[in-house]
Amino acid sequence: MTRKIIIDTDPGQDDAVAILLALASPELEVLGLTCVAGNVPLALTQKNARIVCELAGRRDISVFAGCDRPLAHTLVTAEHVHGKTGLNGPVLPDPTMELQDMHAVDFLIETLRSEPSGTVTLCPLGPLTNIATAFQRAPDIIERVQEIVLMGGAYFEVGNITPAAEFNIYVDPEAADIVFKSGVPIVVMSLDVTHKALVTKARNAAFRGLGNAAGIAVAQMTDFFERFDLAKYGSDGAPLHDPCVTAYLIKPELFTGRFINVEIETKSELTRGMTVADWWGVTDRAPNATFMGTIDADGFFGLLVERLARLP
Ligand code: RIB
Ligand code: CA
Repeated sequence: MTRKIIIDTDPGQDDAVAILLALASPELEVLGLTCVAGNVPLALTQKNARIVCELAGRRDISVFAGCDRPLAHTLVTAEHVHGKTGLNGPVLPDPTMELQDMHAVDFLIETLRSEPSGTVTLCPLGPLTNIATAFQRAPDIIERVQEIVLMGGAYFEVGNITPAAEFNIYVDPEAADIVFKSGVPIVVMSLDVTHKALVTKARNAAFRGLGNAAGIAVAQMTDFFERFDLAKYGSDGAPLHDPCVTAYLIKPELFTGRFINVEIETKSELTRGMTVADWWGVTDRAPNATFMGTIDADGFFGLLVERLARLP
């Protein structure tokens, strides 16, 4: 039984790898890619999403442009991590496949209303602006969402864009607050997990060694975007944040976590976007998210290499 998903994304090299993994995996049916402003402005994220679909040989995928700024703040981008285009590393041709005319938020609403209730999983890989806007505009779709599996937040790893917050949540904390309070079952792939999924030299060589366009492009992408983390954390390679979402959908046993309360800081400038995760159960606040803490990194990279090999 394939699982129907919508990937909401701000490509971003790691988003690109998550999308490639999804498109290479028969367990998943990608109903569409909804693009949001995040790593780079919307004009680039929607272009990059189409570049990635063409890299995977999937011009059939519907790509939609969504919100170009957060609900309540001015947009903060991350060219310092992802480069000017957001997909620096490989040299890939401009897309020739069309962007869909429909707004991504309308696609989210229409799809959740038309697909049988409880059969569509949302996979946000960037700021949660599109998802929150859809929930605000059409509250009836909230109970129809099967599950949200997202990359965002942190507890033990704290922040990567500020000392307190992870980028996706920081960019649009109001949107994250709406999503985390929505009541939809949520699985959180936070920095606590993604910082354990490092593209070491050997793992990068395994991507490159595939010899196909996808493997080589992924090796070039992770070569590029590791600079930020190496300089900041001295880590042994780039953390592959977003593909943890797709890998969970294919092999959930690669991860372990806890069902806990997670709330979002939206009031304080100092801790804006912090995911306050009650990992130790010190409050009586009701659990609302499965917050992942561990990953089988070798199993994760083994899955990635095996699936990327299936692409052109
Ligand atoms: O903090 C990491 C997250 O922010 C990833 O999703 C990356 O692509 C950026 O969107
Ligand atoms: Ca992302």
